[in-house]
Amino acid sequence: MTFPLRRMRRLRRTAILRQMVRETALDAQDLIAPLFVKEGLSRPAALEAMPEQYQHTLSSLVEECGRLSELGIPAVVLFGVPARKDESGSGAWDPDGIVQEAFRRLRAELGDRLVLIGDLCLCEYTTHGHCGVLRGETVDNDATLDAYAKIALSYAEAGADVVAPSGMMDGQVGAIRRALDGEGYRDVAVLAYAAKYASAFFAPFRQAAESAPRFGDRQGYQLDPANADEAVREARLDVDEGADLIMVKPALPYLDVLARIKAEFGLPTAAYQVSGEYAMLKAASARGWLDEGRAMMEVLTAIRRAGADLILTYYAGTAADRLRRG
Ligand code: PBG
Ligand code: ZN
Repeated sequence: MTFPLRRMRRLRRTAILRQMVRETALDAQDLIAPLFVKEGLSRPAALEAMPEQYQHTLSSLVEECGRLSELGIPAVVLFGVPARKDESGSGAWDPDGIVQEAFRRLRAELGDRLVLIGDLCLCEYTTHGHCGVLRGETVDNDATLDAYAKIALSYAEAGADVVAPSGMMDGQVGAIRRALDGEGYRDVAVLAYAAKYASAFFAPFRQAAESAPRFGDRQGYQLDPANADEAVREARLDVDEGADLIMVKPALPYLDVLARIKAEFGLPTAAYQVSGEYAMLKAASARGWLDEGRAMMEVLTAIRRAGADLILTYYAGTAADRLRRG
């Protein structure tokens, strides 16, 4: 049956009809807010390339988390900016480190209302800015795994519900799972940055987290943007090593990868709309070239449609607020 009997426009005629046949829903409970917390800060510091995002103090972090929770956001992922860095990034597993302190404060103030996720990496804590321990000028994979295990335990000890290793070391999910289980933290979940690309879209984040590499780049450990089969193999390894949730990052330029990984494993799958994706929308909207609200909702819906159960996005609060207003 075809035109003129078949008319697709019949079901697009009114808002209520369109609502009835809508395939993808976006809800506040699908959104996770990434937040930065900086040691020794006396007031929140606005981030130039990420409008409306801040490096938080402990108290502004608690306040923001309370606000997000009120808006129906179920989880936050924390990035710490330490006061001091060293060659091995040892501040990352300091029991009194900024992220560990933040977990304790948030748990004390918000109880179980918010799922607490810790981004687990070394780049914010190393003087050289790489995601692992260096040997010469390359990142030593296996030495880095020992450091990641220590970070995971310190996060668990401080009350994290989920740890999210983002350094793209081989074996990182397994090493962290074993370390957690070995110390009785069997219920702490692992969100694996399974397919994380060597992306230009991380640039604003590196300012926010003060984590840009001092030399070279991350192409030696992050995925080549040209590769999708390899991303599926990466994800399979993380699943086999015990990942509870898997993630694709960035989101919009990699929707094909997201769709494949969701279809292949059927695990709860997240996508990270990264700093550069946020900055693009912000910059174009500021010039009046895009309607920010509509563009934001369209992109977030597209990420859900491609297969994301969860979206990490700097727009979490804004989108939740818009959804609430209807
Ligand atoms: C570091 C890390 C990065 C992001 C999250 N964790 C960037 C990087 O690899 O330098 C990017 C997040 C964003 O751009 O919003 N392991
Ligand atoms: Zn890193």
